[in-house]
Amino acid sequence: MRLIQLSDTHVSARHGMFGANVAATEAWLRQNTPELIVQTGDLAMDGAGDPADLDAAAAWHAGLGVPVRAVPGNHDVGDTAAIKPTQTVDDARLAAWRGRFGQDWWAEDRGGWRLIGLDAMLLGTGHAEEERQFAWLAATLDTDAPVAVFLHKPLFIDQADEGPRGYWTVTPTPRRRLLDLFAGARVRLIASGHLHIYRDAVFDGIRHVWGPSAAFVCGDSQEPELGGSRRLGLVEHVFSADSVESRFIRPDGLVDHTIEPHLDVLYPRPDRT
Ligand SMILES: [Fe+2]
Ligand SMILES: [Fe+2]
Repeated sequence: MRLIQLSDTHVSARHGMFGANVAATEAWLRQNTPELIVQTGDLAMDGAGDPADLDAAAAWHAGLGVPVRAVPGNHDVGDTAAIKPTQTVDDARLAAWRGRFGQDWWAEDRGGWRLIGLDAMLLGTGHAEEERQFAWLAATLDTDAPVAVFLHKPLFIDQADEGPRGYWTVTPTPRRRLLDLFAGARVRLIASGHLHIYRDAVFDGIRHVWGPSAAFVCGDSQEPELGGSRRLGLVEHVFSADSVESRFIRPDGLVDHTIEPHLDVLYPRPDRT
């Protein structure tokens, strides 16, 4: 079973500066069609602030002609009040997502594997849906199949018991809960987006793959490269009986845009972050 992890396309109804990269990604997907695309979040540029961006992202993904499973990113549904007080996850933003992309957490059995998508943006919010997702996850991990998990934010950068990493990762309390749940199942892969950095590393027997953005990388407004590399592309995951091979791919025609020259247009102050 072969799937493509696509991430951080940041499709916009109003801003076209990264549109050529998304088009190059689409061209590659049409020539190398997978049986499934899993999108690990930030489908839209500012879906949390402008439903037109969610519409544009939904239209682009639907037009690929391949089944797509997606989990939301902070640019799609917002973040915690501590990280993004002007765009917190709330009922309206969740409804806007679900109306276009379906439930923000999901499971699908394919090729002998259980694929699980999680809404990382609920984690640490205290929204009632956070506990609902945890209860669902505990039940969904009750399987003999190997499991691959997809979510927007990585669980951690350097080690599972590290402290808060601010904007960049799941916070320590929900991270611990997730890892404790995963420890009781055959979780083999955790694939995330958000950092716009590609990395492939194994911690405690679980492969953690950071999917790159298909649109732009971050420059000096971000932390250092965090042990990965800032490059644009996508990831191919090929699943066999109990293991997965993951491979970085860079479609032809991508241009290495950085976000910094566009920050004032895309995220006018004080909405920066
Ligand atoms: Fe992103
Ligand atoms: Fe993100």
